Amino acid sequence: MITHSAPRAREPKHGAVARVLHWATVLVLLAQYVVGYAMIGAEGVLEPWIEVAYGGDEDLLLPVHVAIGCTLIALVLVRAVWRRLVTLPPWPPTLSDAGRRFASLTERALYVLLFVTPSTGLALVLLSGEEWETGDRSEWTSPWDLLDDDLLVGIHVTCQILLLGAIALHVGFVLTHQFVHRDRMLRRML
Ligand code: HEM
Repeated sequence: MITHSAPRAREPKHGAVARVLHWATVLVLLAQYVVGYAMIGAEGVLEPWIEVAYGGDEDLLLPVHVAIGCTLIALVLVRAVWRRLVTLPPWPPTLSDAGRRFASLTERALYVLLFVTPSTGLALVLLSGEEWETGDRSEWTSPWDLLDDDLLVGIHVTCQILLLGAIALHVGFVLTHQFVHRDRMLRRML
């Protein structure tokens, strides 16, 4: 005799807009790290790409890096506003109180760092009084000379490292739940 099991209740997940914004952020951030490291001399690995895309001239990457940074700031602001407008899905029952606190904390840290990291890069190109070559015959001079460029570079790099740390904690947490606790946490964002 064929028996039918009861249909599985729909698991709560983030809405379509939140999911699109989440994965768009991941892709844009990935592109930003690739461009950022190409600018500071990871040419060994990235040289073939710089050769094809920019004729081997990585100075041209600065405007691209700034444009991607502005896109990230816009994305995180839209996400933050959207998050306030919608009701978030309830936590999975497999999440302990400590797990909920950990997830909230890392997600908040991600929001803050996604905004602060590109902002410190913008501060560098706007407030340091420095000059950059942006091509064979063009250069960019920061319009204001208000803050020390070494200080700004230090803050920018520190934020990047903190952001990578927060991403590692976030992804590690999600994957642990997905594959160790087997609570299909990943589905909340798919
Ligand atoms: C690489 C950069 C990443 C960033 C900056 C990021 C950021 C975030 C943020 C801010 C949230 C909270 C969403 C909200 O409440 O509005 C979130 C949720 C989530 N992310 Fe990521 N994420 C990243 C990568 C990933 C990856 C690679 C995975 C998959 C392994 C992933 C899986 C998830 C899942 C499943 C949730 C939902 C968790 C929950 O409901 O609390 N994320 N992410």
